[in-house]
Amino acid sequence: HSVGIIGAPFSKGQPRDGVEKGPDLIRAAGLVEKLKAQGCAVKDYGNLTFEEVANDEPVGRVKRPRAVGSANKRLSAAVHAVKSDGHTCVMLGGDHSLAIGSILGHAASKAELSVVWVDAHADINTPLTSPTGNIHGQPMSYLIHELQSKIPVLPNFSWIKPCVSAKDIVYIGLRDVDPEEHYILKSLGIKAFSMSEVDRLGIAKVMEQTGDYIFSKVKKPIHLSYDIDALDPSITPATGTPVVGGLTYREGIYITETICQTGLLSAVDLVEVNPKRGRTEDEISSTVSAAVDLIQGCFGKLREGNHSSDYKMP
Ligand code: ARG
Ligand code: MN
Ligand code: MN
Ligand code: MN
Repeated sequence: HSVGIIGAPFSKGQPRDGVEKGPDLIRAAGLVEKLKAQGCAVKDYGNLTFEEVANDEPVGRVKRPRAVGSANKRLSAAVHAVKSDGHTCVMLGGDHSLAIGSILGHAASKAELSVVWVDAHADINTPLTSPTGNIHGQPMSYLIHELQSKIPVLPNFSWIKPCVSAKDIVYIGLRDVDPEEHYILKSLGIKAFSMSEVDRLGIAKVMEQTGDYIFSKVKKPIHLSYDIDALDPSITPATGTPVVGGLTYREGIYITETICQTGLLSAVDLVEVNPKRGRTEDEISSTVSAAVDLIQGCFGKLREGNHSSDYKMP
């Protein structure tokens, strides 16, 4: 695998600070070295810098639209560049509003994408349905063709054009979905494996059906958008909106192993790691190390063990 890493230290898609520390913490836990040790070629593109936006007043319910619009524009150009260099792109967040720029930048280099969204939340509120006004709860709504008529004009959002079809999205891990979001998921017929389906089917069947669903048509490159809060807060407590009853560590890793095995993984987001939400050093390190392990799983690390094809036994 050839991996290009972008850090996106951005937190204005939600109200809690600390999530901008995610990229450097994940790197400090040895991400680059670990990926290299498992045989990946890695280029770290470093952290993006984002402009300060003055007078970023809410528009309707939507909070800090100008900062979020402008940060995502920058991110989308960076992701497009990483894709143009031929890498699988890893975007380290930052909050989940960054999926807007990450998916748009990825889509700019590919005809069409499948999106696998692993999260406790659907993040599909529109600016008009959002109960909080936080854009990290809305990114999918800006990206889906079928919702375009429901999206009002926002400052610094005019460059955003929808790029994914409702039928090309799979959700895994949902357990905190707003009523308005549930209506959107149902009315657009979006494929979703909530924690109930994970309980009923087991994660192996969920991933088998995810594969059947996204491969039933033309095989499209996969964008995996992984919110660390998909995992149970007993494993990843250092995050802004933890929800009990999440994926186990093993289920979370299994998702990455199976997505890797499709051979279609083209970009990954790992978002919402927030050290300031950890109450102890252990809570922070357990969250960060799970994030590293998930990314390693995306690039071929197997629990059975690995060895390189040119290994010679002494
Ligand atoms: N549904 C809530 C909202 O729209 C929570 C979203 C949480 N999103 C996240 N990326 N952690 O505000
Ligand atoms: Mn291009
Ligand atoms: Mn979430
Ligand atoms: Mn999310």
